[in-house]
Amino acid sequence: MNDQHPLIPTCLLRVDPQQPDARIIRYAGLLLRRGKLVAFPTETVYGLGADATDARAVERIFIAKSRPSSDPLIVHIDTFERLHQVAINIPSLAAELAEKLWPGPLTLVLQRHDNIPANVSAGRDTVAVRMPVHAIARALIASADVPIAAPSANTFSRPSSTTAAHVLEDLSGKIELILDGGSAVIGVESTVIDFTTETPTLLRPGGVALETLRDHLPNVKIRQQFLSDTTAAEAPGQLLKHYSPRAKMIVFEGERQAVLRAMNQQLEHLTAQGDKVGILAVQEDMDTLHADIKIGLGSEADLEQVAASLFAAIREIDQQAVSVILVRSFENRGIGMALRDRLTRASEGRVITVTSETE
Ligand code: TXA
Ligand code: MG
Repeated sequence: MNDQHPLIPTCLLRVDPQQPDARIIRYAGLLLRRGKLVAFPTETVYGLGADATDARAVERIFIAKSRPSSDPLIVHIDTFERLHQVAINIPSLAAELAEKLWPGPLTLVLQRHDNIPANVSAGRDTVAVRMPVHAIARALIASADVPIAAPSANTFSRPSSTTAAHVLEDLSGKIELILDGGSAVIGVESTVIDFTTETPTLLRPGGVALETLRDHLPNVKIRQQFLSDTTAAEAPGQLLKHYSPRAKMIVFEGERQAVLRAMNQQLEHLTAQGDKVGILAVQEDMDTLHADIKIGLGSEADLEQVAASLFAAIREIDQQAVSVILVRSFENRGIGMALRDRLTRASEGRVITVTSETE
């Protein structure tokens, strides 16, 4: 808790994610209109919302999250009409993509409308916009009747929140209201595409898989960091610390059996050194890995399930006060691309590629 800021009583209200209680939504919308901070569920992760047209309310998001003001926020809308209150000169490619994939886990970076104060976008003349599909998020935006700026509802650099309990853990005493709509279904954040560059560019892999994007946008440019398997290890200094557990995380990739052997060796070595080691593992690997502390991520055959449990699992293993977390990486397909990105960042680039020589 940051002592420089006065404590705010944080209220938590349960809301049915399918049929949100209209009175609660009206109350939450009113709070937003008055410049207050309301955390709410979306299909990806929980968002920390403020009226995106109110620079002072937006400023409070940065303070509550301890987020540097250089890191721009995503503005959430509920209708295509509202898009035009947020962005201007929308390229037809962007509009077409939005028509196909909204509402959903897709964020478009566009030219910013003057309605949106510069601090939302960290001073840039662009703005990131998303239309979520979650019923609570949509009802809330409609009720507030303004676009809602909402980064993930976690303290800066911590894993994103996928439950109201995570939000409470990070933001209790700093925000007015949390709407508890249960666990986020997707579990990783939206895919971010920049449409202000000459060719649309993928800035963050997320809930919409690259394969799906390419169906609609065959020319989408991919940043090198998402293409290479070893970029992270080559350039750890360039990586933003993000989604980080308190413990040091080490990610392993390569042929499965070789990786499992390398992980067990590392485990032995670290334990002998006095480290308390925890492992995040898919159910297929559980019996082969010998750690005392193991948290399951679901089945490797169902990467959607892994995505839904990843951030909660990182928080859970951290609570066991381990000093090192070992985890095997995922295939670079579908939502696996987003999983790899989050693990690379959570480990601050400590990705070990196991080759046959290492065996
Ligand atoms: O799924 C999501 O996108 C969640 C839910 C709450 O909607 N939100 C989320 O927000 O993940 P946040 O603030 O944690 O991540 C926003 C991402 C950051 O990577 C940020 O750099 C990028 O979007 N971003 C925002 N505005 C941008 C802009 N104008 N230009 C480039 N990138 C931008
Ligand atoms: Mg975030």
